[in-house]
Amino acid sequence: MAFLHELTTFKEYEAKYSLVDSNVRIFSGNAHPDMAKAICSYLNLPLSRSTASTFTNGETRVKIEETVRGKDVYIVQPICGSVNDSLVELLLMIDAAFRASADAVTAIQPYYGYAKQEKKTSGREPISAKLFANIYTTAGADRVITVDLHAAAIQGFFDIPVDNLTFSPLLLDYLISKHYEDVVIVSPDAGGVAKASQFSDKMHASLAIIFKRRNRPDEVEVIDIVGDVAGKTAIIVDDMISTGGTLIEASRLLKSKGAKQIIAGVTHPLLAGKAIAEIENSDIEKVIVADTVPLPPQAEKSEKFVCISVAPLIGEAIRRVHYNLSVSKLFD
Ligand code: R5P
Repeated sequence: MAFLHELTTFKEYEAKYSLVDSNVRIFSGNAHPDMAKAICSYLNLPLSRSTASTFTNGETRVKIEETVRGKDVYIVQPICGSVNDSLVELLLMIDAAFRASADAVTAIQPYYGYAKQEKKTSGREPISAKLFANIYTTAGADRVITVDLHAAAIQGFFDIPVDNLTFSPLLLDYLISKHYEDVVIVSPDAGGVAKASQFSDKMHASLAIIFKRRNRPDEVEVIDIVGDVAGKTAIIVDDMISTGGTLIEASRLLKSKGAKQIIAGVTHPLLAGKAIAEIENSDIEKVIVADTVPLPPQAEKSEKFVCISVAPLIGEAIRRVHYNLSVSKLFD
């Protein structure tokens, strides 16, 4: 793990800052219980009990099944799967914990949904990322912990602390361990240049930038590329795979420009629609993703997908928030 630099002293650190017998309580909604269990297992804590079900009329019903009075409550729920159900479940769980006199309520959203509309690109559009930032706060959240926000500026939409963790060190460790030769890091769009440039610095690799445009939502047109990719291992880095359109179109262009090998490193494997089948049939050799959302069984079975867990990273963030230790150390 990239953030555990002083491994010899980690046992001491873990003992000193153990959460066993603390007032930390970790709950899960229905979106990604495996992530909540993995975090609990990392911290040696049991998963606290709650239920989230549906009334006959379709409304969501949640209940926190144990006392949270005076507790430091963490609710794990990425906004994925049945997106709107996940969202409502999370809001109701925050409200339930707040009304049951929790000392503090943290929403852990390994994937922060509704982030794509984070600004108005034309008239009469909402800014959904801001709307939901307001709503989480209104529901009673005191803090949000998330991973690789679609746009870092979304942190500023909140008037409560937001810890925007990043998958990058874990992805970098993996990529470096593979000893790829003659690497070019590829940003699949203008918005990803800062991230791609960090990867190219750390990997001493060159950089290429693809220009893409969307004529309609979920439809990608790749226009051009700046940078030399011929004969190289092209590593595309991005924050999410939704329809897979960005990745597929980028890989076609890279292939046509003579890339020798194409790898993708992407944080959130939303893998909507035909994304998995299209990736399977593409020239992309490996797709390295995080488990911020559950990996669909089809992707789990595929040899192309490699999934690296961010549960220890989130577990460490919880420990550090609880003990008022630096969270930014996790990015070093
Ligand atoms: C765009 O700004 C994002 O970074 C991703 O490239 C994009 O959301 C991926 O979506 P899709 O897989 O549908 O092309």
